[in-house]
Amino acid sequence: MKILITGSNGQLGSEFKELAEGYPHFEFLYTDVDELNITDEASVNHYFALYNPDVAINCAAYTAVDKAETDEESAYLVNDVATGNLARASAESGAFMVHISTDYVYDGRNFCPYTETDAINPLSVYGKSKAAGETEVQRADGKAVIIRTSWLYSAFGNNFIKTMMKYGKERDTLNVVFDQVGTPTYAHDLAKAILDILPVAMTADDIEIFHYSNEGVASWYDFAKAIHLFANISCKVNPIPTRDYPLPAERPFYSVLDKSKIKKKFNIDIPYWRNSVKHCIDRLM
Ligand SMILES: NC(=O)c1ccc[n+]([C@@H]2O[C@H](COP(=O)([O-])OP(=O)(O)OC[C@H]3O[C@@H](n4cnc5c(N)ncnc54)[C@H](OP(=O)(O)O)[C@@H]3O)[C@@H](O)[C@H]2O)c1
Repeated sequence: MKILITGSNGQLGSEFKELAEGYPHFEFLYTDVDELNITDEASVNHYFALYNPDVAINCAAYTAVDKAETDEESAYLVNDVATGNLARASAESGAFMVHISTDYVYDGRNFCPYTETDAINPLSVYGKSKAAGETEVQRADGKAVIIRTSWLYSAFGNNFIKTMMKYGKERDTLNVVFDQVGTPTYAHDLAKAILDILPVAMTADDIEIFHYSNEGVASWYDFAKAIHLFANISCKVNPIPTRDYPLPAERPFYSVLDKSKIKKKFNIDIPYWRNSVKHCIDRLM
């Protein structure tokens, strides 16, 4: 089975490369913007005609959440238009598409974990562009699955873990918001889950949405404290409210995802967020 990975130099894409040798029955085709710019519909169609992948896992995205507020066009081009290109090429060639979406499609006003049927109401340009991308996948009407995840980090690329480790070593104190609550997700766990569920997921007739994040609940403050504990960094972390750390893009205050559906359907276990943070930091150190 040939699996195309788009955006394969990013956090999630890179974790597929790490996991590949454990899945010798899959052949991976790794591409990033230089090999396959998914905003270019002709290139996407040409690529599918040439390599005929059985599966396309879309890890490509515009993920600069704050920059998107003033660069709406680029965010929509990658997260919406390009997702449509990939979704149509997959549908027309009969390939199964795995599309990754985000907790930022929700407005964060829930008081209990979001289920896949809860209404979306994105607050930011990034969230809106990702929601539009989901619609493109649905509209292409091929065989596909949409997986919404949250607070992604990995051993690759820039992320909150690396930022907290860097600043924690450089500074005596750090301020981190404590009133935004969600679940950090280790891209390594997500990539593994995708490869494990793939054979069964591909047999579904309808396009389904699933949630996947690590288990448990944390604030960014809790996340920062766990990072410093596991990385052996002694830096005082002050919990601050979001209003004291204004950013261009509005974030959901509560974005915990209910994962019952994916666990039940595919019979998978999901690691606890703190264990996965430790695993990632052990790799980094
Ligand atoms: N990061 C998070 O906290 C988070 C949370 C929830 C959901 N997600 C979703 O999870 C998925 C993976 O995120 P990630 O953190 O792994 O993203 P990432 O690290 O930013 O990686 C995205 C990759 O896509 C590439 N790319 C951008 N435009 C492209 C194009 N036109 N054609 C081909 N490749 C292109 C990027 O290249 P450049 O770096 O050169 O632009 C980058 O290598 C995304 O769908 C994201 O929306 C992320």
